[in-house]
Order: sequence, then structure tokens, then C-alpha cells
Amino acid sequence: MKPSNYYNKIAESYDRTRWLTAPIAEEVANFIIDLVSATPDTSFLEPGVGTGLNVIPLVKHGYSVTGIDISPEMLDCFRQKLGKVPSNLQLIHADASRLLFQDHSFDVVLTVHMLHAVSDWKALPEKWV
Ligand SMILES: C[S@@+](CC[C@H](N)C(=O)[O-])C[C@H]1O[C@@H](n2cnc3c(N)ncnc32)[C@H](O)[C@@H]1O
Repeated sequence: MKPSNYYNKIAESYDRTRWLTAPIAEEVANFIIDLVSATPDTSFLEPGVGTGLNVIPLVKHGYSVTGIDISPEMLDCFRQKLGKVPSNLQLIHADASRLLFQDHSFDVVLTVHMLHAVSDWKALPEKWV
């Protein structure tokens, strides 16, 4: 089974099987904000964003966040959580090993538990692996 199909199948139950609670996600996000000395204009990209566990606090803080994922079902679960996708969040169905963005399109790229799930990992940007 390809990883993308795998995540499509488990999308609905994904959050229930994770350790990252909302308060911990908030702590981690605050750590990242401090680490990168984020300003209100700082933009974030999470390839393999999944159901949004890592970036929801960044979105709530008002940062510009782009999340891409190869699994439409994972992205749908993310959208359902939010009710309405806020204007500072862009969700894109795309393959992280075939990114369409120019270099320097984002200030911060974070990726969590994604690299191992990419079948064509050799095609990922060299800086990530
Ligand atoms: C273990 S989940 C991690 C999700 C999220 N980052 C988290 O920490 O909860 C791995 C995610 O990577 C996505 N993924 C796998 N291969 C990908 C690829 N080539 N491009 C984009 N996303 C991919 C999967 O669909 C899945 O949502």
C-alpha cells in the first residue's frame, strides 16, 4: 500500500491515535515562535500537514500558514476541525517531493513525522533530508 493510501484510510481516526494534545501543541508552537523570532509577518509551511495538529496554534495566533499534504482525506479532516478555513491558512493537496513553490517563498518550514512517509523521499529538497 502506498503511504498516501494509508493516510487516506486512517484519516478519521488519526487524531485519536496521537500523543499531541492541544495544550502540548500550543507549547511546541510557542517554542517554535520563540526559536525563529517570529514577527506577525512570519510565514510558515508544513509539508505533510495532515490534520493540522502542529499548525493549528500558529493559525490561531494569526500567522500565515500553508499546509500541503498528499492525502485529501487528511486535509478534509483538518478543514472539518476548523469549520471555516481562516484567511491566514492555505491548504493545498500536493506532493512534497514535487513542490511548486519558488525558493524563499516561506520564512519557516517545519515538517513533523512526514519524511518517513514519503515514498519518493530522494526527490525531497536536499535541505530536508
Ligand atoms: C504521520 S502523518 C503526520 C501528519 C502531521 N505532520 C502530524 O504531525 O500530525 C504523515 C503525513 O504525511 C503525508 N504525506 C506522505 N507523503 C507525502 C508526500 N509525498 N507529500 C505530502 N504529504 C505526504 C501523509 O498523507 C500524512 O498526512
